[in-house]
Amino acid sequence: MMTELDQSYVDRIIPERAAEANKNDFGRVLCVCGCAGYTGAAYFAAQGAVRMGSGVVTLATPERAWPVLAVKLNEPVVRPMPCGADGMLSREALPALLSLAEKADALLIGCGLGRSYAVAEIVVTLIENAKCQIVLDADGINALTAHKDILRQAAQPVILTPHAGEFARLSGLENPQQGELTLFARKMGCILLYKGHRTLIAAPDGRLYRNHSGNPGMAKGGSGDVLAGMLVSLCGQGLDPVDAACAAAWLHGRAGDMAANARSEYGMTPGDLLHFLPDLLKRYN
Ligand code: APR
Ligand code: MG
Repeated sequence: MMTELDQSYVDRIIPERAAEANKNDFGRVLCVCGCAGYTGAAYFAAQGAVRMGSGVVTLATPERAWPVLAVKLNEPVVRPMPCGADGMLSREALPALLSLAEKADALLIGCGLGRSYAVAEIVVTLIENAKCQIVLDADGINALTAHKDILRQAAQPVILTPHAGEFARLSGLENPQQGELTLFARKMGCILLYKGHRTLIAAPDGRLYRNHSGNPGMAKGGSGDVLAGMLVSLCGQGLDPVDAACAAAWLHGRAGDMAANARSEYGMTPGDLLHFLPDLLKRYN
């Protein structure tokens, strides 16, 4: 059964913030993102989480990416992690990452991480050990190409946010039908947010949702990283993970539509999604 997402559906998901709340009520999220070559992805993911309302955002990034990201980001705590000669996380980062993950309410792994054996080992070990909700994007998904069975061992259903290419690498399915997405989610026990013009969300229990917001101005490197950050933020704030996936997809597309109205599909940037998201969220004051 397919549910079409709309504003009223999402309005029922997003709670009002309690007047007496403090930052511990809005979740601690840990983003394991970035490498020496890809600092933008980590920036967009961490800021996506900040702008979606997280209490505390921590970004763990290889030490060669750290100087750039520590300057670019004000609100997130940016933590340098052991780095290999390739500029990506090295195995020595694992103990520190595991201890940060223990303190997190939700974990995003993957934006701009790069691809290496060490990165794959880190992704798999975090999935095996983390108790909190995990969102896997980009190179976090690519890392599972030879290890996807690990998804069944996660403490709770992992949310995967692939675009068509990432999903094809993971599953071998080039142009998946809706039924194939549902089957994958069921078999792997994961929540699949399959990105594209009409993003689809498949839950392990067979529920399927279709998003209708967004526009081709969002087809630019960095848009997906903003979505991943928004999604992990909602998970860290305690939303049900399928609700969080539906709300993040809808709001991300709506922020894109506001950006296109104000700045054009051609000229808008992923940074404009971060800029317009707060206006969109005024309705939840
Ligand atoms: N209509 C609506 N939404 C769209 C459209 C469209 N025509 N085109 C793109 N989007 C949305 C998608 O739904 C998704 O949320 O923009 C986002 C794009 O996310 P990604 O495909 O993950 O792209 P991104 O990560 O920003 O950049 C490309 O992916 O292939 C890798 O390594 C590559 O880092 C690069 C990255
Ligand atoms: Mg992406």
